[in-house]
Amino acid sequence: MADKTICFCMAVTENQIRDAIKSKNLKTLEEVSNDTKAGTGCGGCHVAIQQILDEMNK
Ligand code: FES
Repeated sequence: MADKTICFCMAVTENQIRDAIKSKNLKTLEEVSNDTKAGTGCGGCHVAIQQILDEMNK
């Protein structure tokens, strides 16, 4: 699957976020932010990160 940038402020890609969620069993946006730094800038990517979390943890 092609990777794409989810968080432009911190230059974090979808695959980086998915890998972190999978390998560390992350459940919340806060945990993803703490681990990857995604979402710690403008906050504009929060919805996209939450969508990945919802999809992976459903
Ligand atoms: S795009 Fe992720 S914090 Fe700004």
